[in-house]
Amino acid sequence: MKIGLLGFGVVGKGVYELARMRQDMQVAKVVCLEDITLPDAQVTRDFQDVLNDPSIDTVVEAMGGLHPAFEFVKAAMEAGKNIVTSNKALVATFYDILVPLAQEKKLSFRCTAAVGGGIGWLSELERSRRSQTIQEVGGIMNGTCNYILDAMHRTGLSYDEALKQAQGLGYAEAKPATDVEGIDTWHKILLSSNVAFGVTMDKDSVPVSGISQIGPQDVAAFQAHGLVCKLVSCARRTEAGISAYVQPTLYPQGSLEAAVPSNYNLITFIGSASERMSFYGQGAGRYPTAYNVLQDCIDVLSGKPFYVPYGPVVQAVNQEPLRFYVRGATDSFLEENTQEHWGEGIVTAPVAVSRMHRWHKEHPQAFLAALSQE
Ligand code: HSE
Repeated sequence: MKIGLLGFGVVGKGVYELARMRQDMQVAKVVCLEDITLPDAQVTRDFQDVLNDPSIDTVVEAMGGLHPAFEFVKAAMEAGKNIVTSNKALVATFYDILVPLAQEKKLSFRCTAAVGGGIGWLSELERSRRSQTIQEVGGIMNGTCNYILDAMHRTGLSYDEALKQAQGLGYAEAKPATDVEGIDTWHKILLSSNVAFGVTMDKDSVPVSGISQIGPQDVAAFQAHGLVCKLVSCARRTEAGISAYVQPTLYPQGSLEAAVPSNYNLITFIGSASERMSFYGQGAGRYPTAYNVLQDCIDVLSGKPFYVPYGPVVQAVNQEPLRFYVRGATDSFLEENTQEHWGEGIVTAPVAVSRMHRWHKEHPQAFLAALSQE
């Protein structure tokens, strides 16, 4: 396999180093805007050098961002090159263009490192759904948010200090708002739902609440009630249709989710035969993510295409009622639904997830967290 590698940042450099140790693949060209030299690969600033090289059969995209990653990946596919990418924003945003194109061109299109970093999540989901119906997917999918929340709960670190540390360790996206506002987790649950249920989730119907408004007073209130806050995604089949959303969620101390430390991820599927299966590991970082990119390259060598056939667009319904902790804003809707007072915040009676997220959109300064159903 001859690889054209796009990007030489945290992930790209790791891919290059791991690929060098193998006989069955070679990084022939690297597209990178910095002046570097490599002993065994040509470094270029011009993507056309990769596109027009017929000896390159596979493009590994590790640039991140939507543009020009989308244009480069699409052009490479049109030229008949297989794609491996770790870019969840790219795949989640352009799913309805890239997946049909891969299928039309009969190419391999793999993106396992896009969800869960080093965890073999999408590849196992692909295997799992062959022999059962997947009822539910989701979990802790963002290392940066878990790092921040873990540090705030365990060591009393401030939100800003914890975010700075996560950035220093290379976990955070270029714009940290992508992590802390839940957008990265949103990309990951869109992608996971599409693979699990064989559909294309309508992105606008999947609501997101992040952690940027959390304060020490919230953590104190949770700890007083024996709870730990995590940023969690959920997508499940319900009688009304598929529900899917991203929101901070409160788990009892001692539960599996509450125990996830540092930047680790914990991602779960529930299958009709397998029941609950959880995957725990490094959700970010150079070598864990590059490891999964390499796994995908090996899958390309063995001819694996995309994970599932392209499926129709469906809207998330989100009608299930949950109780929510809310602090930082109020109005008559919240007052009517208040059941308890926790420090500066309140806890609601059960409210439909879609209704609570609609309220949050109108009150973005508020912090909210769902009480888990455990
Ligand atoms: N920023 C992401 C995270 C990187 O913190 O999980 C891995 O997707």
